[in-house]
Amino acid sequence: MGGSKKRKRKRNEEQRGGTVYSERENPPDFALLASLYPEFHPFVQFLHSHSRPTIDWTDFNATRQLTRVLLHHRHALNWWIPDGNLCPTVPNRCNYIHWLQHLLSSDIIPNTISSDGKFRGFDIGTGASCIYPLLGASLHGWSFVGSDVTNVAIEWAERNVNSNPHISQLIEIRKVQDNASDPCVEVEESVNGDNIALCGSTDVEVAPLPLDLHACENRNYHGPPILVGVVRDDEKFDFCMCNPPFFESLEEAGLNPKTSCGGTSQEMVCPGGERAFITRIIEDSTQLKDQFRWFTSMVGKNQISSTLHQNFGRLELP
Ligand SMILES: C[S@@+](CC[C@H](N)C(=O)[O-])C[C@H]1O[C@@H](n2cnc3c(N)ncnc32)[C@H](O)[C@@H]1O
Repeated sequence: MGGSKKRKRKRNEEQRGGTVYSERENPPDFALLASLYPEFHPFVQFLHSHSRPTIDWTDFNATRQLTRVLLHHRHALNWWIPDGNLCPTVPNRCNYIHWLQHLLSSDIIPNTISSDGKFRGFDIGTGASCIYPLLGASLHGWSFVGSDVTNVAIEWAERNVNSNPHISQLIEIRKVQDNASDPCVEVEESVNGDNIALCGSTDVEVAPLPLDLHACENRNYHGPPILVGVVRDDEKFDFCMCNPPFFESLEEAGLNPKTSCGGTSQEMVCPGGERAFITRIIEDSTQLKDQFRWFTSMVGKNQISSTLHQNFGRLELP
């Protein structure tokens, strides 16, 4: 790594609170993990005596075992997910938790919710892995509500919580009720005036979002509730977090052939993609501004950041 890259990295780390998890600087010792975890051993490739052992990153079973052993070895967590579900990478998920810790300990928005430093978070779309509540509870003692829409996610998130009795009291898993059982998804492309209906049913009446998501495009979120309708009136949270369904189609989701993290269509795809999903979170934040201190989300594509920023200006934000 060159000097300027190192300096940039250090500056970024300082901005995020200094505890960034780096695979490059702190790589897992696969040989050690293989010796400690017999189920992981068959996935470790000892290719050359002069290079580090590795795994086949395109093999879902290998990446799932790696996540399992890292969560156990580094975080004392018991964990598993069913075949094909989205398998989280531990360093990436830890970094979001570290970044939140930094944000919550700052005074940018004064803390009026948790007095004892035991923060409470809402994880939108916790997945079968329930990865953020497990990490946040075990690293910092935070409590969580983790929501999801699929029965598989709810069932496995609950299993993962119950497999860790030392933190299970800190985590509630909440099923989002999708009242529109077969929601019609329309993606309007006002560029050429065509409306593309991705699903035939139009029985379900869906309130249009007030936001124009893009000067030339209008891709509204028509899915189940995200925060409004899921968060109860008497609840307060220090933050919400989200790793949204990033993609507009499964084809788009499968574009990276170098890794295999799994992921079903329900987990990875949402009409309008992450831009529509995050825009709904922004809208919900105006109604829930007294119940949250911070609204946060991961953003997968750099290009949508500017659109989201434009939308901030149109709302009376908390
Ligand atoms: C990309 S996955 C993230 C899973 C996990 N948080 C992670 O980081 O690996 C997105 C999750 O959001 C869930 N989801 C989709 N729409 C949702 C909604 N309206 N409310 C809550 N969860 C939703 C999906 O079922 C899926 O589990």
